[in-house]
Amino acid sequence: MEVVEVKGEKSLSRILVGESIDNLRNYTLGKRIFIVTDKNVERLYKHRFPNVPTYAIEPGEGSKNLLTTIDIYRWLLESNVDRSSLIVGIGGGVVCDLTGFVASTYMRGVDFGFVSTTLLSQVDASVGGKNGVDLDGYKNIIGTFNQPKFVICDISMLKTLHPFEFISGMAEVVKHALIADKDKFDFIKINKDAILNLNIEMLEYLVVKSVKIKARIVEADEREQGVRRVLNLGHTWGHAVEKYTGMSHGYAVSIGLVFSANFSVIKGLMKPEERDNLVDLLTGIGLPLSYNKNEHEVFEILKKDKKKENDFIHFVLMNGIGNAQVEKIGLKEIEKFIQNGTL
Ligand SMILES: NC(=O)c1ccc[n+]([C@@H]2O[C@H](COP(=O)([O-])OP(=O)(O)OC[C@H]3O[C@@H](n4cnc5c(N)ncnc54)[C@H](O)[C@@H]3O)[C@@H](O)[C@H]2O)c1
Ligand SMILES: [Zn+2]
Repeated sequence: MEVVEVKGEKSLSRILVGESIDNLRNYTLGKRIFIVTDKNVERLYKHRFPNVPTYAIEPGEGSKNLLTTIDIYRWLLESNVDRSSLIVGIGGGVVCDLTGFVASTYMRGVDFGFVSTTLLSQVDASVGGKNGVDLDGYKNIIGTFNQPKFVICDISMLKTLHPFEFISGMAEVVKHALIADKDKFDFIKINKDAILNLNIEMLEYLVVKSVKIKARIVEADEREQGVRRVLNLGHTWGHAVEKYTGMSHGYAVSIGLVFSANFSVIKGLMKPEERDNLVDLLTGIGLPLSYNKNEHEVFEILKKDKKKENDFIHFVLMNGIGNAQVEKIGLKEIEKFIQNGTL
């Protein structure tokens, strides 16, 4: 097991990579605990939960809204949860985002922790203290910045994950390597087959690396005023693709990463061989590179999303593999790139 600390503005979060859900009680400080989970995770793992009051939501993004939070607030009230209690979210990003938000707002804040059960939530959603819910199609539009006391990343729980979800999470793992760690990129490339076969040691190594990269960036800029923007690599275009196609997040991010790589090549920041290296890796993992939709319509979505920032966006480019950088790019420049493949 490896412990990675994230020092937030208000509190410290300890990410325990390789710890087991069976040791959850070691981290709950003798407090009365209340578990929030989803019905899939409950069905698979309830027998390993401590025997405490548990609330299971319907699985999926459709539950990440204010109606569900109201149901959970009522359950907390009925269960006499108070500020001395501890709320533990056991699940993927949906459960973690929702639990963090509920715990941060119920009685102005109750301590909370996570057992993170998907690859995406282990490397991304449970690190960094962003919690929240969706409203009217706007993702994470209502939320808080607040760190969990602890996050258990039980790698063995990834074995029951649907391969589609695992591959989706791999897009974020590759993203972290592209941002800050060329060695990690090479490691994934060399060990791709073993990783896809869920080799536990290799997965633990990858999750630790990802968590460390994200933790370091979050510590430098918890509220995303500057350097944290680098974590949006592949996401500016990826989000627009996700919205337009309804494709799952990691798959859309993969397309966004390729878009950013192509743009970086045109900008002279990335060598074409490096872009091809990335394309090879994504393909090998089973992630998509493109989609058969109209890029201009995706661009219109991107423009709408970014309206507030006038005619510029903070776009994340790659200065080679393992070194991402944020640049202010004119929307016109992106439009020209889509039209002509040049600047
Ligand atoms: N807070 C952040 O910084 C942050 C960052 C990235 C993503 N997110 C959020 O994370 C969410 C997506 O997270 P996700 O991909 O984990 O989705 P999810 O929580 O919906 O989990 C995906 C599916 O896997 C199931 N599942 C979970 N753990 C399992 C296990 N061990 N075995 C078998 N099945 C399991 C779930 O029931 C669900 O059906 C989105 O809402 C996104 O906004 C938040
Ligand atoms: Zn993402």
